[in-house]
Parts: sequence; structure tokens; C-alpha cells
Amino acid sequence: MKFSRIVLIVGILFFAFGTFWQAVAPWLSLKKIPVKSLEDIAKDVPREFYMLAEDYPVEFNKYFGKADEKSFMVALKTGRDIYIADICWQCHSQCVRPVSREEIRFGRISYPSEYNNVMQLPQLLSTRRVGPDLIRESGVHSNDWHAAHFKDTRSVVPGTVMPSYAWFFDKDGHLNKKGLSVITYVQWLGSWTKPEKYVLQAVNTEAAKPESSESVKTEEVKPAVSESAKPEAAKPETGAAVKPEGGKP
Ligand code: HEC
Repeated sequence: MKFSRIVLIVGILFFAFGTFWQAVAPWLSLKKIPVKSLEDIAKDVPREFYMLAEDYPVEFNKYFGKADEKSFMVALKTGRDIYIADICWQCHSQCVRPVSREEIRFGRISYPSEYNNVMQLPQLLSTRRVGPDLIRESGVHSNDWHAAHFKDTRSVVPGTVMPSYAWFFDKDGHLNKKGLSVITYVQWLGSWTKPEKYVLQAVNTEAAKPESSESVKTEEVKPAVSESAKPEAAKPETGAAVKPEGGKP
């Protein structure tokens, strides 16, 4: 057989193998993984959504009624649609890559299963980053921060190139359905994998309070304290410790 013919046949075989390995095989294995529906997602309503209802009760009630799984689904879907329509994805990615220590800047590195849901169809990974990545945005800022930011971005971040979104507000300047929905959407992004610091903070403040007063009691107040007056006795002690420092200058 001619050498050139052997090269051709081997080439075709390699091409067929490549197509199978990179396209057919992944499709065969991935198609078995169920795509999370909106109902599945709504089983885990982030607390920022309930806070939104508390922060803007009149507006929230007008457009969504009560804060529950149902209204969350409506707000989330609307917010995602606006994110696409207003081309937020032109300037924001939704993927923390395992390079350049991105996890320090944005948080946990992205993993496949978090994209396996209807909110990522079409996928919104995006590549361009004029603004920061948003896949870990949940809880980074308060709802109020987002409202102020969308209303007038430069009043919050001077010099930013992100445009303001006047149409997220009604003529009186209150958040409208679009505004509430977009805030719901950005506060949802990454809520499924909130960084440990949020959990730690909550645990620490609970654990730290009794512990610190405990240590004050045992170390400093020991001789003066009787069984009954422990908490009251601890307070003047700490107060007294602070006073001389404050009074020095
Ligand atoms: C022209 C590019 C551009 C567009 C379009 C854009 N942004 Fe931004 N965005 C930025 C830049 C730059 C920043 C960083 C400075 C700032 O906070 O304004 C930012 C910041 C943000 C932040 C705060 C991120 C953080 O953690 O501090 C959020 C949330 C956000 N954008 C959401 C959106 C949404 C939602 C849309 C679409 C409605 C959008 N952006 C459209 C450029 C853009």
C-alpha cells in the first residue's frame, strides 16, 4: 500500500476517535444528569429574598405579594431574563476559573454541577470581564446597596463604567418589578455555596460572646463575684477597664 494512503486512513481514524472522545462520549454521560428545574432551585430561597420583602414592603407587595417559593420563582426568572436582555453578561462573567488565584478575589472556584440548571440555559458563563465576576455575588452587598447602585452607579462607585438603570425604578424613584427581580437574581448567584465566612461569622458571634464574658469572669472578677451577681459584676469590670484608657489623653 502507498504510504500516503496509510497516512490518510490513520488520519481518518484519529478524526473519528477525536469526535467520539470529545463530543459523543461527553454527551452520552452528561445527558443522564438531570437538569435542575426552577422548582428545584426554589427549594432553597436565599435569605436576601426575604430581606428584600422586608426592605421594600410596599413595592414588594405590589409586584410579588408574599415572599415565598412561588414569588421567588417569578422574581428569579424575571431577573435572569433582564440580565440577558440588558446585556449584563457583556461586562460580567459567571465563572471563577482555577487560575491566577481567582478564588482570592471572587470566592470558591466554579464546579460543573452548579451550572446544571435552567437558569444557565443558555449558559451565562461569559468571558469578558469589564466588571467583576458575579457567580459568588450573593450576600456580598446588601439589597439597599444594589438598589442605590442600579439607580446611580457612580454615586456608589465613583468613576465606574457600569451604566445606571433608570428603568428599574418607577417615576417616583421606587424600585419596580424589574429592579426587584434583578436584585433577587444577583443575590441568588452563588447563594448555594456561600463562603464559609458567613457561616463562621454566625457561629463565632454566638460562641464568642458567652466565652469572652466567661473569661472575664473567671480571670478578673473571681474574688469579687458571688454566685448571684455574675453578669452584673462583669460589666462594671470591663467598663472600668476601658475608662482609664479613654481618660488618659
Ligand atoms: C459596561 C459594562 C457593564 C455593564 C453593561 C454592567 N456592569 Fe455591572 N459592573 C461593571 C463594573 C465596571 C463594575 C465594578 C464597579 C461598580 O461596582 O460599579 C460593576 C459592578 C457590578 C456589581 C457589583 C459587584 C460587586 O461585587 O461589587 C453588580 C452586582 C453588577 N455590576 C451587576 C450588573 C447587572 C445586573 C447588570 C445589568 C443590568 C450590569 N451589572 C451591567 C460593569 C458593567
